[in-house]
Amino acid sequence: MDYYDNEDNENLEIELLLEAMNAKYGYDFRSYAKASIKRRIRHRMSIAGIKKITDVIERVIYDREFFIELLGDFSISTTEMFRDPTFFQALRKNVFPALKRLPFIKVWVAGCSTGEEVYSIAIMVKEENLYDKTMIYATDYSDKSLSSAKEGVFSIKSVKKYAANYIEAGGIQSFSNYFTAKADLAVIDPSLRKNILFSIHNLAADGIFGEMNIILCRNVLIYFNRELQNKVFELFTESLEAGGYLCLGSKETIRLSRCSDNYDEVLKDEKIYKKNMRPCSYSQDIDNNPVVTPEFVIKGGELIRDMRSKIEELDCLISGVSGKGVT
Ligand SMILES: C[S@@+](CC[C@H](N)C(=O)[O-])C[C@H]1O[C@@H](n2cnc3c(N)ncnc32)[C@H](O)[C@@H]1O
Repeated sequence: MDYYDNEDNENLEIELLLEAMNAKYGYDFRSYAKASIKRRIRHRMSIAGIKKITDVIERVIYDREFFIELLGDFSISTTEMFRDPTFFQALRKNVFPALKRLPFIKVWVAGCSTGEEVYSIAIMVKEENLYDKTMIYATDYSDKSLSSAKEGVFSIKSVKKYAANYIEAGGIQSFSNYFTAKADLAVIDPSLRKNILFSIHNLAADGIFGEMNIILCRNVLIYFNRELQNKVFELFTESLEAGGYLCLGSKETIRLSRCSDNYDEVLKDEKIYKKNMRPCSYSQDIDNNPVVTPEFVIKGGELIRDMRSKIEELDCLISGVSGKGVT
């Protein structure tokens, strides 16, 4: 029998659990959509044979391994290559012609999960002959997803499905050219990984990536409440160059957010927006927010600093290269 016959009590205990996760480890899920969080907690409770959320709180505080498992549950990693093929078709047709005119291109794939979306972008960039002047920053808060993204290994079965998406997205090569078969696995062509920088970044807590020309954050904001969505839109608006593109998932929109006026719609159905020159009306305090927290985020913070210095190094390299006439 379900321990909870009173939803208010259950919700209260969930709030306390999320407070504990934030206070102890610096992972802040307090602004995530409640229904999805509740499902994830219940899933972990049933695996661990736990009946009460108060017991989950105790386990989270005293058992780091258990916390990591719960953290994994909170990261819904569903993804595929060339997901929503018409979006990629639109990107090729409506966005890449403008990107081609830039001396170099910075792409941020936020909430990249296990890498399928990142490699899809890398393939398109390569096919448009833009790879050598493009840097792709791929971030997620989930260490586990990022490790698998870096490996770039997929099952043959899923690659067959991705091949159909690729063709629908207007792919122009034989999709198998991008993989090497290894038993029943397909390993992504390492040359596609060359200009991809994978790093931990938590959209709810960490800072901006400057001077991006395009940001993809698809099927991530759907898990956030309105306030956190606003905060993340501000982060993106600060990170994008004027004229840069913001791409969201099919069920997400910037309309009704605090940043709505800062974007023009490029393609409504594909959720592609272009940052305009209007001054931002929201009060911007992202840079002043200290990256809170103990243990885990301190580790994350190190990685972010590390990534920032890598970005600076790469910027120097790119401007060095573009100084030699690459356009
Ligand atoms: C459903 S997947 C979407 C993957 C990919 N963007 C796509 O559309 O196929 C959502 C991803 O968002 C990540 N995510 C959720 N909250 C996040 C946060 N606060 N910061 C960074 N990534 C987050 C999850 O870990 C997960 O990998």
